[in-house]
Amino acid sequence: MYEQISHSMLNRILDELKPEIRARDLRHFYTRLGANFYAIYSLFYQLYGKREDIERQMVRLVEVMAINYLRRDKALKKLDIERERNHNWFLSQEWVGMALYSDGFAGNLQGMRGRLSYLQELGVNMVHVMPILQCPQGASDGGYAVSNFRDVDERIGTLDDLRALSSDMRRRNILLTLDVVVNHTSDEHDWAARARAGEKKYQDYYYIFDNRDIPDMFEETMPEIFPETSPGNFTLNETMDKWVMTVFNNYQWDLNYSNPAVFIEMIDIILFWANQGADILRLDAVAFLWKKIGTLCQNEREAHLILQMMKDCCQVTAPGVLFIAEAIVAPVEITKYFGEDAVIAKECEIAYNATFMALLWDAMATKNAKLLNQGILNLPSKLDRATWLNYVRCHDDIGLGFDDADIVQVGYEPFSHRRFLVDYFTGKFDESTARGQPFGQNERTGDARISGELASLVGLEVALEQGDQEGIDHSINLILLLHSMVMSFGGIPLLYYGDEIGTLNNYAIMQDENKGGDSRWIHRPVIDWERADMRYKRGTPEQRIFDGLKKMISVRKCIPAFADYNNRDLLQTENIHLFAFMRSNPFQLGDNVLVVGNFDASPQSLTLGELGKNVSFELGRLRDLYSGESPQLFKDQLVIPAYSFYWLSDSMT
Ligand code: GLC
Ligand code: GLC
Repeated sequence: MYEQISHSMLNRILDELKPEIRARDLRHFYTRLGANFYAIYSLFYQLYGKREDIERQMVRLVEVMAINYLRRDKALKKLDIERERNHNWFLSQEWVGMALYSDGFAGNLQGMRGRLSYLQELGVNMVHVMPILQCPQGASDGGYAVSNFRDVDERIGTLDDLRALSSDMRRRNILLTLDVVVNHTSDEHDWAARARAGEKKYQDYYYIFDNRDIPDMFEETMPEIFPETSPGNFTLNETMDKWVMTVFNNYQWDLNYSNPAVFIEMIDIILFWANQGADILRLDAVAFLWKKIGTLCQNEREAHLILQMMKDCCQVTAPGVLFIAEAIVAPVEITKYFGEDAVIAKECEIAYNATFMALLWDAMATKNAKLLNQGILNLPSKLDRATWLNYVRCHDDIGLGFDDADIVQVGYEPFSHRRFLVDYFTGKFDESTARGQPFGQNERTGDARISGELASLVGLEVALEQGDQEGIDHSINLILLLHSMVMSFGGIPLLYYGDEIGTLNNYAIMQDENKGGDSRWIHRPVIDWERADMRYKRGTPEQRIFDGLKKMISVRKCIPAFADYNNRDLLQTENIHLFAFMRSNPFQLGDNVLVVGNFDASPQSLTLGELGKNVSFELGRLRDLYSGESPQLFKDQLVIPAYSFYWLSDSMT
């Protein structure tokens, strides 16, 4: 629809642009701006329409988009156009990611360049390099407390190192993902320093209050994110003698998005990193972007409007760049971060599938897939042009954020079920060999989450200590089983560095005073490259895990049915230990892959006939694509060994 008001405003804005911008060749910029301006204007108006300076702010916003467009490298602009043409590129099964801390993985950014071949050996072609920006010397929440959004932390390298890494990666066809911490800054950021010094302009960048009146109202409904290390959501700043909103740690100041200047600063930062060659930007803690008294201050409608606006603006300047939403929230809320539209992602093209992750851990602990099934059955469907990041572990804790109704539906009581899971993963439960640690325990609410390396959580640490060969086999099989699920579910699998060689918990790091209080550090490893070399020694856990994952990755890349076109059907089986779904090749009828995982310690059977007429296979031709072998069958009963999986197909190709 042609919209007069926004169009005439756009014309006025273009007239007001600085002459040096007007003089340049902005053809693509203008066509994209024309296409997106109505949306940007409407969103901006909804959020900031009451302000007298709205038009001045809009001019500034358009200027920021134009300047960053002019600064954007030719090669990146070419890529933008290619990706506009081939806009489903990221739904392909060919992408496999890994998240890593560059210092833990390779010492620093330069070291990373020397380790790209290791990633390629494994088959990883998308790397999330965890926070690299300048942050405080002491505690910095793993770099998520940023003190300068435009410079790399000197302990990790320089901006030039990053550019060199990004061009090396591009040559090798590896996508680069970087973080933009949009919700807060470190208290050492210049904006915070100026706010402390009394500059009103910068005090307005944050939520700062003279007394406890408003903070107390907020506290009535806001949960605590780090109840042990940073209780409450406000911190008294003694220099100003004022209360600052600090939802995460007390040194992370929440940004105030009801101020358009903050939004515009952040767009400038997003586009800056797009211009450094990032293919994907991970927007941190997006659920928290809008605060309202009387609410949880998560998932507010305005947070979605801000993300839509960020997407629209990025589409004008750097349309090839994708966003990942890091929103670890309730299942019904997560899919909203794709943006509520019929087809296209209007907010973030990619979102962490925290629901699936937590459900997989539930299946592992209970040895059955009841809740996993139920939870996935109720996971709201996803837009066509959006995809999941499916993962088993990451740098954060495992939150048990299942839907209570689902827990009840499968016959558990929510409180005691969660208690069981925490006990199980921290090894308190009798039969458990898990070595996790509690995280974020809240005495008041009884909540707790779990930290720990994948290998330690599935029992490898205990089995190795005890020289228990069967235990070692089980834990390796579990590591492969969990990965087989995230590799076939639909979406981009995201491995976590060190898991590919079975890295165990690092307890020594808890002695570090800047890390000690936060158990997530036990699973943020420094890679032991001598151990990594054990991947070449037959029979070692390192070799078995590494080669297992490497094979899984290479097989995944050849299965078109694993691309993400909402081409997955969950299958209801009579056997509670099994999780099964069908993937179908959207481009070739009849090319289906049956995925089934057995979470039990004994072999389990699946009667193929019971799965309905949509699941019809030529039994004689059935083959497991992962192992290349025929599965065990008794008549039409498929037998799945303990802790293992099949990717079955009867197609001859
Ligand atoms: C995200 C990060 C987490 C961090 C938090 C605050 O959730 O993944 O590590 O603590 O944001 O920035
Ligand atoms: C909370 C946040 C999530 C973050 C985590 C870090 O769960 O919702 O964004 O990853 O804390 O522990």
